[in-house]
Amino acid sequence: MSLQDAILKLARDAVVKFVRKDQVIGLGSGSTAAYIVREMASLDFKNTLECVPTSLQIKVEAEKGGLRFADESMVPDIDVVFDGADQIDAGFNMIKGGGGALMREKILISAAKKVVIAADEGKFVKSFSRSVPIEVHPMARTAAAGKLQKAGGRPTMRTLDKGYPFITENGNVILDTTFASISDPHRTEMELKSIAGVVEVGIFTRRADAYYKAKADGTFEVIY
Ligand code: A5P
Repeated sequence: MSLQDAILKLARDAVVKFVRKDQVIGLGSGSTAAYIVREMASLDFKNTLECVPTSLQIKVEAEKGGLRFADESMVPDIDVVFDGADQIDAGFNMIKGGGGALMREKILISAAKKVVIAADEGKFVKSFSRSVPIEVHPMARTAAAGKLQKAGGRPTMRTLDKGYPFITENGNVILDTTFASISDPHRTEMELKSIAGVVEVGIFTRRADAYYKAKADGTFEVIY
């Protein structure tokens, strides 16, 4: 039994518990969200669902599974969004954006009636201990990096192999920014969001309706 078995089982459980006929479903990005999409693809009523993807990665996964897509005007009608996370602290705040899809993920998570998060146990921590992805307009990258430093952060522009900048699907760059500590995630989220040129901040403070925790022994736990 492995972490992968646990993710397979939790994906099944999450879909059975949270997906109903005729719903509008938000699809987060990443490998864990992909397991949930594959599970949705096996539903006999999948043709009644309409999905709103947060990235091309998850859109391709949903296309493979024959899922249908809703127009973006349906975002306020999303019944449930399924997503992964990069870190979840003891207060259930999250860091997201490891895959660069934070802007669309934040839009869906703030709009959806229900939010369901799934992550492996190693991502559940007492307090954040990794960098915060911050999406910034390319023109603002140097000015915003200076302001992030003034706010106590150490920003590094995300790059691909050979040093090319990682460009988000919105045409922006990501400044992965390390902070010594984040004692008030909501305040930090708001403070960073107010910097000119910052498009979105990878600190997510909306409490989800369920957190699925995958364990290395092949089991999972649900925290409501
Ligand atoms: C995408 O930008 C992220 O917010 C993902 O939700 C996060 O990186 C989790 O991905 P995995 O499920 O692949 O770990």
